[in-house]
Amino acid sequence: MEKIKLKIANAIKNAVNCEISLDSIISKIEVPKDKKNGDFAYPCFNLAKVLKNSPMNIANDISNNIVKDDMFEKIEVVNGFLNFYIDNNNIVKSTLTKIIDEKENYGKEVGNENINIIVEYSSPNIAKPFHLGHFRNTILGKAIYNLYKTLGYNVIALNHLGDWGRQFGLLIEGYKRYKDEFDIEKSPLEALLQIYVKISKLAKEDENIIEIARDNFKKLEQGDKELLEIWKFFKDVSLKEYNRIYEMLDIKFDSFNGEYFYNDKMDEVIDILEKKKVLIDSQGAKVVDVGENMPPCIILKSNGSTIYATRDLAAILYRARTYDFDKCIYVTATEQILHFKQIFEVAKYLVDEKYQKGLVHVSYGMIRLKTGKMSTREGNVVYANELIKEAIKKAKNIIINKNPNLENIDNVAKQVGLGALIFNYLKSSKNKDIIFDLDETLRFDGETGPYVQYTYARINSILNKLNFQINNVDIKSINFDCLEKNEEVELVKKLSKYNEMINKSMSEYEPAILARYLIDVATLFSKFYNECSVISSKDEDVKFARCILVYATGIVIKNGLSILGIDTPNRM
Ligand code: ARG
Repeated sequence: MEKIKLKIANAIKNAVNCEISLDSIISKIEVPKDKKNGDFAYPCFNLAKVLKNSPMNIANDISNNIVKDDMFEKIEVVNGFLNFYIDNNNIVKSTLTKIIDEKENYGKEVGNENINIIVEYSSPNIAKPFHLGHFRNTILGKAIYNLYKTLGYNVIALNHLGDWGRQFGLLIEGYKRYKDEFDIEKSPLEALLQIYVKISKLAKEDENIIEIARDNFKKLEQGDKELLEIWKFFKDVSLKEYNRIYEMLDIKFDSFNGEYFYNDKMDEVIDILEKKKVLIDSQGAKVVDVGENMPPCIILKSNGSTIYATRDLAAILYRARTYDFDKCIYVTATEQILHFKQIFEVAKYLVDEKYQKGLVHVSYGMIRLKTGKMSTREGNVVYANELIKEAIKKAKNIIINKNPNLENIDNVAKQVGLGALIFNYLKSSKNKDIIFDLDETLRFDGETGPYVQYTYARINSILNKLNFQINNVDIKSINFDCLEKNEEVELVKKLSKYNEMINKSMSEYEPAILARYLIDVATLFSKFYNECSVISSKDEDVKFARCILVYATGIVIKNGLSILGIDTPNRM
């Protein structure tokens, strides 16, 4: 679509006699809501001033001078608008040829390899089970990572582990006291969480505990061997459990350097801020003023200790040097919006403008479960692994019912269960809260992951029945003109927008755009398949061309779902 806009813009530019940039023409090209007004429209009003003529006259002039490409069926002038009608045959041919040519590479772009994009995501706080919020984060971050990767950027995945802070002084104390009361072997993170809850309660009643915890953390910071050992144990068991989830989602990070890593890198930050004279005293603390609309950013607390923000600033400095990033994208819940605004402001004292301008915060809303036993547990906490297990179990039941003889049922159930969860998270705009209903997300009809996956499986079975082998296809033998029915053309046009959609998803950090697009593809495919017989088509040319359309739809679904992090089983 972007290519078509470029072509139109070029044609317009060549037809008018004035200096106007291609970009400014492209930005004005519209896609009319009503197809009666063309596939694309260009309003000539902004040219009126420059050319000192009326929009109607200009539109007429352009229409007379424009070189008619065979891409256009016709160009009409209406009320100062130029309406472009695309020649469907042309679009059908060029789109399908491209898809069968490129297959799993359809949608990929090259040329951005020298642009470094950091996507920092997941970043759970250790010694706690992975909860639903982190799960949403992980899925969203992975999709953003994949979007950049598909479009050819050099992408770096970072996991900024929450592995440092005063809470570990307290947890260590709890661990020392209660470790034998809980089954740490069996489920270490739940046990550690319970220990934390218990020692926190005690700390509320007993001042001494707070003192000990503070002391513990001080010792940790100074590198006390015994305490570091315990802390390291927390970290190891946490990573072990998180890695299970990452493996299941096929996620790899380039680095797990988290808050602890920056423990010895904060002095430089303080130094720089001091030298620039922006570090000011405020009620004993040291802060940086970040403008009138925000509270100042605390760098050192009144007791001299550093905080979360201080570590984040050290991370910006380190990442600029280590990765020379063009963008550094942080994925976190909306609660941290203020935090990131503050540190991005302070960052201008630490790194070059290029880096500071590349800092991006992508936030997402809350997740709640509708009802059911999973949400009634104390504190409404649901852990990701429980939810995943439950989703896979339910997916399996559905599949057994539908297709009892399916081979590899466990694997398919895993793909479908995970696909349902992931799709459900990604199909709503990231900033919206999600209240979700597991049964709803698993439906094979409706706007769900399984619905899109099922469309893919159907496509596969159609192609199998026809014994279709893409490797045996000679493009020259396809009669694209056969695809002329409305349902066929609409489906192809949708497929032709794939690249535009992934570009848009990427630049808006919004995988929901791609997810919703895939629902549209699946829906249009259904319409096409209901209206146009493929398997039983009498005319061999028509049958073959439709077969190609079926295959191409499968490619777009598979490539698109894979960007979202969702597998496409051949059968389900
Ligand atoms: N560990 C934090 C949390 O769970 C998220 C870290 C986000 N990244 C950052 N650089 N501060 O809320």
